[in-house]
Amino acid sequence: MGMRETIDQMRQMMSQELEKVCDKQTLEALRVRVLGKKGELTALLRGMGQLSPEERPAAGQLINDAREKFTAMLEARQDALRAMERATALQRENIDVTEPAPLPPAGSAHPVNIVMREMVDCFTGMGFEVVEGPEIELDHYNFELMNIPKNHPARDAQDTFYIDDNIVLRTHTSPMQARTMLTRKPPIRIICPGRVFRSDEADATHSPVFHQMEGLVVDRDVTMADLRGTLNAFAERVYGKGITTRFRPSFFPFTEPSTEVDLTCSACHGKGCRVCKGTGWIEVLGAGMVNPRVLEMCGIDSTVYSGFAFGIGLDRIAMMRYAVPDLRLMYEGDARFLGQFR
Ligand code: DAH
Repeated sequence: MGMRETIDQMRQMMSQELEKVCDKQTLEALRVRVLGKKGELTALLRGMGQLSPEERPAAGQLINDAREKFTAMLEARQDALRAMERATALQRENIDVTEPAPLPPAGSAHPVNIVMREMVDCFTGMGFEVVEGPEIELDHYNFELMNIPKNHPARDAQDTFYIDDNIVLRTHTSPMQARTMLTRKPPIRIICPGRVFRSDEADATHSPVFHQMEGLVVDRDVTMADLRGTLNAFAERVYGKGITTRFRPSFFPFTEPSTEVDLTCSACHGKGCRVCKGTGWIEVLGAGMVNPRVLEMCGIDSTVYSGFAFGIGLDRIAMMRYAVPDLRLMYEGDARFLGQFR
């Protein structure tokens, strides 16, 4: 067989083999088999010694052309392999940003906030405006303007955190009554939800931090009947049909007359149960007609205007609503407790 045919066969063999090659090792093996020191084409080169001097240049040319051709074929295959490798790597490393990820556990509103929001919703629906005030409050607003002068016995009832002689952590939301009356003219219709502080030992029903919502209405001809009507509307809106209020006479320095207000127990609808200790009623707020002294101290003419005010304990209501047995649960931040209010 002539050299040309041998090389031709070699080329055919190579293109068949190259088709099948799909990794570097096999490609290298093929290169060694043809172009290596002991390779088939190298053998042809060695065999040139047996040719006559006239035949040698043409044969040399043939072999060199073949070497170039084969090298090019091998390189082409190598490039193709690299491209395939890259493509599979890209495929593998591809991140599907649309794939649904595990969601972090969702939080939920705190029971006190749930109750607060409902009330805010209810009162704003009746035309009240929400105002907020400082938790660190001047004695002047917290006590003096609420008609609780120094040495007044009512100061003892509210175990106060004093920051200094003139500054306290507000013991109730009532100072917002004074702040509002001093900066606005009647008609006034505001509610003020927020945190209040008293230096009580924490137990099942006491906490040094708790929540109140103050309400204040000042206008011409405001009467106790307006207070009653407003609180009854609130009771029914937030707790449902059949829930009403009971007013009991009481005393607060900033209201005259004053009343403590019970709501129909929502657990038994007034029949009497464990939650209401058999009475059918739950005490939830203090209220009354704004003391004319307070109106005057806050720059409002008490011969022209009158008003009512109320202060609702929010934690109490949330505990009753969700049958929470211990106030401390509300403040410990235990996720097992909080997760139940979704
Ligand atoms: N400030 C009172 C307290 O913290 C609650 C209260 C009673 C508020 C009667 C009022 C009110 O506005 O009229 O105990």
